[in-house]
Amino acid sequence: MTRLAHISDLHFGRTDPAVVAALLADIAAAAPDLVVVSGDLTQRARHGQFRDARRFLDALPVPYMVVPGNHDLPVYNLLARFTDPLRRYRHYIARDLDPFRQVGDVAVLGLNTTRSLIDDFSEGRINRRQMARIDQVFAGLEPTVFRVVFTHHPFLPPPDRPGERLVGRAAHTLRHLETAGVDLLLAGHLHRAYAGDIMTHHAKAARSILVAQASTATSTRLRNEPNAYNLIEIAPPRLTLRLRSWEGARFMPGLVTCWEKHNGCWVRLSTDTGLAAMDRTMAASPAPAGRLSPGGAEA
Ligand SMILES: [Fe+2]
Ligand SMILES: [Fe+2]
Repeated sequence: MTRLAHISDLHFGRTDPAVVAALLADIAAAAPDLVVVSGDLTQRARHGQFRDARRFLDALPVPYMVVPGNHDLPVYNLLARFTDPLRRYRHYIARDLDPFRQVGDVAVLGLNTTRSLIDDFSEGRINRRQMARIDQVFAGLEPTVFRVVFTHHPFLPPPDRPGERLVGRAAHTLRHLETAGVDLLLAGHLHRAYAGDIMTHHAKAARSILVAQASTATSTRLRNEPNAYNLIEIAPPRLTLRLRSWEGARFMPGLVTCWEKHNGCWVRLSTDTGLAAMDRTMAASPAPAGRLSPGGAEA
């Protein structure tokens, strides 16, 4: 089994230090194989905010991958915004804007969806070079490798807001994701946590791809949801999503959903089945101290 922690929308410059410290402690206790950070590390792309984000990344006890979000581009400095909008991001956070990494039998590609030259620069887009990168990085892998792509901007709207704006060229990009055999998409931006099959929204989608959206992990700007992040357990054909939610003093276990791929389609198991499945998983792989008990309470 490979375990990912998916965190998003940290927004340094508008964070609660207690939440930031608790998030680091919770990730350390969970000890995932990889942390995926899907953008908006800062609130206004200021030097001090990037330095705080840098300190946070340096404190992560496990490897991480990161892509920028729209808040990591300068808003008021028009010269910087239109000439080299990600200069500070590259300086403080990462030079590679479309990182790729394989951890065990899981391959993960991040794509920078931020753009400063489109109508509304809070929205994002995927370009043809990035579609070619999707084709290229997954092409040489063993067929059994589980493929994940993460972006800041979403491919799937929340269930209660089907008209929400998605990443630009989502439908076109899906054709490349389908050919590449991608099974999981991770994103943020909306500060909402939800999951679903891409086929429930994109009428022309030809492959069942699971989408998991993360809430904001540490920002005080919330959308009727607490700060939260996702712990994702990948053990094909099963995938378990464990929400970890801020409860005022620490991150605690939230909703657990189990998915299984049957005949090429992701199927969401019922809650009871999911918990039973979790029991079997935990029995096969003893949990370290501080992780969840099978009933969902802290051990
Ligand atoms: Fe955000
Ligand atoms: Fe955003």
